[in-house]
Amino acid sequence: MNMRVKRMTGILIGFLTILLLGDPRFQSSLADKILPASRSLAAGASTIAGCLAPAKARTAFPGSSEYQSARTVFNLRYKYAPAAFVFPTTVAQVQNAVGCAEQLGIGISPRGGGHSYEDYSLGRGRDGVIVVDMTGFTDISYNKAAGTVTVGSGFRLGPLKLALWNLGKVTVPCGVCPSVGVGGHALGGGWGFVSRKFGILSDSIVEAQVVIANGTTVRANAIENVNLLWSLKGAGANSYGIVSQFTFKVHDVSATMTHFSYTFLKSQQAQTVKAFQIWGQVAVAEVTTSLYLDPSGGNNFYGIYMGPSANLNAVLKAFMDNVPAPSNQTVIETDYITTVLIDGGFSQNADPSVLNLHSFTYPTATFKAKSIIVKAPGFSGDGIKTFVNSLQAGPATSYFIFDLFGGSASVINQIAPGDSAWVHRDALFSIQMFTYWQNNPSQSSSDITFIDNLWSAVRPYASSEAYQNYIDQDMPLSAYYGSNLNRLISEKKIWDSNNVFNFPQSIPVR
Ligand SMILES: Cc1cc2nc3c(=O)[nH]c(=O)nc-3n(C[C@H](O)[C@H](O)[C@H](O)COP(=O)(O)OP(=O)(O)OC[C@H]3O[C@@H](n4cnc5c(N)ncnc54)[C@H](O)[C@@H]3O)c2cc1C
Ligand SMILES: *[C@@H]1O[C@H](CO)[C@@H](O)[C@H](O)[C@H]1NC(C)=O
Ligand SMILES: *[C@@H]1O[C@H](CO)[C@@H](O)[C@H](O)[C@H]1NC(C)=O
Repeated sequence: MNMRVKRMTGILIGFLTILLLGDPRFQSSLADKILPASRSLAAGASTIAGCLAPAKARTAFPGSSEYQSARTVFNLRYKYAPAAFVFPTTVAQVQNAVGCAEQLGIGISPRGGGHSYEDYSLGRGRDGVIVVDMTGFTDISYNKAAGTVTVGSGFRLGPLKLALWNLGKVTVPCGVCPSVGVGGHALGGGWGFVSRKFGILSDSIVEAQVVIANGTTVRANAIENVNLLWSLKGAGANSYGIVSQFTFKVHDVSATMTHFSYTFLKSQQAQTVKAFQIWGQVAVAEVTTSLYLDPSGGNNFYGIYMGPSANLNAVLKAFMDNVPAPSNQTVIETDYITTVLIDGGFSQNADPSVLNLHSFTYPTATFKAKSIIVKAPGFSGDGIKTFVNSLQAGPATSYFIFDLFGGSASVINQIAPGDSAWVHRDALFSIQMFTYWQNNPSQSSSDITFIDNLWSAVRPYASSEAYQNYIDQDMPLSAYYGSNLNRLISEKKIWDSNNVFNFPQSIPVR
């Protein structure tokens, strides 16, 4: 398998095929993991149903098959049992659900694409909440003159990129996995392969329409509720309200693009890390890359250059000057939507309509992930040695992805840390640390210990920051929000003083 598709499918070898074919082994193993709700809830199902009924939204309660399938989210590690799922298609139905949660004193969790690493969209870390699944919010309208698009918060990234491409060869900068939801993604950052040129997705939010705790709907933009918009751009996941709709600035991606992927040997992992850091600091904004490493020797440098392949050698020079010749390479000069297909794990010749995943049963995994942010100039020589030695001692079912955020040309780093809630403006890169296990729970504790120990070993060479879209229950809020945390708490008191929207790592009221 080509390493460049690892982000989406590396953890899913087997699962993808099994899910697509509907293999009964998978279905029964899933049923084993998902237990029925057993705790006594603050309000009984009939009380909740009675409160939700007047709004006439589709709902699912424990005991129904729809409820069981709705509990399948990306990370199968947890078994949260919500009190109910609501599938609104109108803002009034969202308002009703918020009102019921407040009135009945039970938790509420909006859900976009269900890709939260800690399954926070399934119950904020506990049973018995109302999950408001925004999948029905998929209206889209493109305002070509204004250079903006207004989309429902139920969109997933693949369908959104496809729609924008078809509407005018434009895009919003965002992540590579087509099944990730725009809701959680935009509210916690949103990094992808055009981000060094166009920023993270939250930087492109122009307006959000939000159902707040008292059940009213507000717009947050550069004129109205400016501080709410500031908070949503990085700290918006289930802390201030439920976003029903976003307006994003769009960006032209009509130019020729080059997708590249270079493979190196296991013995060269330290060299590629060093070269990635040196080159990353000086790379032009038109290129965004990742470096994938794993204990079996995976060592792959890949990404997108927003220009013709003839320029690629010059663009990557400071990287290539610092590594031996690659053992393999693929360079494809193509258009933007084809790069999206390739990074999404599809063939470059696939019909782009495969990105229309609204009804796609996305692959899942059972995993633990951590992240850490590394600032320029990157790890010291000792830091690289510590990182590579630790990773090479790890289990095969783990991997590490360095995502290049910074470098002096990167648009991400040209925004001040206090300009929006997303504070990590001097990050050179983030490392996603990932370990997974399939149908083998006994493997989990040793794998989690491995990832925890590796994180602790590299921490002295990195920063105290971590990326909130790779949410990890072990992290303090200061790691995610840094110097913006106090302002976020002040805003929380204004918009949700009763802490209706909360989960273990939401913005607190004090
Ligand atoms: C396979 C995979 C690939 C990924 N690739 C990338 C990547 O390339 N780049 C990157 O930056 N990140 C990536 N991520 C991380 C991703 O950005 C986060 O997991 C993101 O939070 C997922 O959003 P979601 O809507 O799918 O998740 P959900 O689980 O639905 O939501 C995540 C959080 O946001 C809240 N939320 C969701 N919708 C709303 C709403 N409308 N209003 C208020 N709160 C809401 C939820 O309550 C929850 O707390 C990836 C994750 C996975 C699983
Ligand atoms: C090298 O890349 C080509 C595609 O360009 C692929 O067919 C081949 O299998 C790769 N070889 C190795 C050893 O990975
Ligand atoms: C709802 O809360 C907002 C923000 O605190 C406030 O401006 C508005 O007046 C409130 N509306 C109602 C009906 O309580």
